[in-house]
Amino acid sequence: MLFKQQALLRQRLFVLGSLAIGSVLYLVARVGRLDRLQPLCPIESRLPSPEPEQIPLRTLSFKRGLLHEVHKGNATKEQIHLHNLVQQLPQAIIIGVRKGGTRALLEMLNLHPAVVKASQEIHFFDNDQNYARGIDWYREKMPLSFPHQITIEKSPAYFITDEVPERIFKMNSSIKLLIIVREPTTRAVSDYTQVLEGKERKNKTYHIFEKLAIDSNTCEVNTKYKAVRTSIYTKHLERWLKYFPVGQFHIVDGDRLITDPLPELQLVEHFLNLPSRISQYNLYFNATRGFYCLRFNIVFNKCLAGSKGRIHPEVDPAVVIKLQKFFHPFNQKFYQITGRTFNWP
Ligand code: A3P
Repeated sequence: MLFKQQALLRQRLFVLGSLAIGSVLYLVARVGRLDRLQPLCPIESRLPSPEPEQIPLRTLSFKRGLLHEVHKGNATKEQIHLHNLVQQLPQAIIIGVRKGGTRALLEMLNLHPAVVKASQEIHFFDNDQNYARGIDWYREKMPLSFPHQITIEKSPAYFITDEVPERIFKMNSSIKLLIIVREPTTRAVSDYTQVLEGKERKNKTYHIFEKLAIDSNTCEVNTKYKAVRTSIYTKHLERWLKYFPVGQFHIVDGDRLITDPLPELQLVEHFLNLPSRISQYNLYFNATRGFYCLRFNIVFNKCLAGSKGRIHPEVDPAVVIKLQKFFHPFNQKFYQITGRTFNWP
């Protein structure tokens, strides 16, 4: 009897031990090396800034901890002071393109422990009223971050607004600029869908896409239609190139960010001189949403809002072909300038 009880006890201990070891191994594999689980040392963060390539990374869980509380407004002034948190002007900006996947790109980059996003679109450089408020106003709109981290904001209107390149150049002539593009006709339809949804929400009627995209007098592509003009990427880029060399831009493939985000994010990490930290673990395909969603750690994950990934209306195939033919020469020029080629028609 006693022998049987002892055997049972040994068996239970063995099961419990295995579970404990398994959990530790799981945590190490999923969250990263154990040293990344160390809490931030306030003294360490007051040391001089390291070389950009050697950014000391904090844990993802820590980022979701204190910084999350800060963003919710729950951190105390003492915590902010103690941890040497600062509001930094962005070292990189996602300047566009509207409907290219700018939100997905920002959120996915924010998975990186050395990146902190400005959650809202700030519209500092494209809005004259905001711009007149000055650079300190802009800085105050930035999230709190640790000095070794980089801040990124996205305002897609920057890409198409005439005044913006010069204004950004005046702030920081060596800033890194990210442009996420999608096949131009798809992007134009996505743009239209967003506006249509806004009209419907206000119980207003709106034209069909075909009527806006094609000039009924000439039967040619209507270049006055904003959704068409925005998709002529090369025209906008050429304005930017008057201020910034092409090496300061990185082009992100927005179509691939939808289907296979990790390689695109790794290219951005490289462009930003960040060590590669975003992994397949951080991205999982959600079949219900039909998109990749974000996993920060075992407990925290999220998908983008429902306004991202709308169902597009069906467009007359003849109009689609007309638009594709129209964009073709502009696309060729865009490939030539940027050195990035896409399989657009
Ligand atoms: P659609 O709504 O046309 O599908 P932006 O953030 O610049 O407005 O871009 C919106 C687009 O991001 C969406 O366009 C969607 O296709 C794309 N996108 C890319 N990755 C996504 C993701 N993981 N979740 C939701 N939308 C994503």
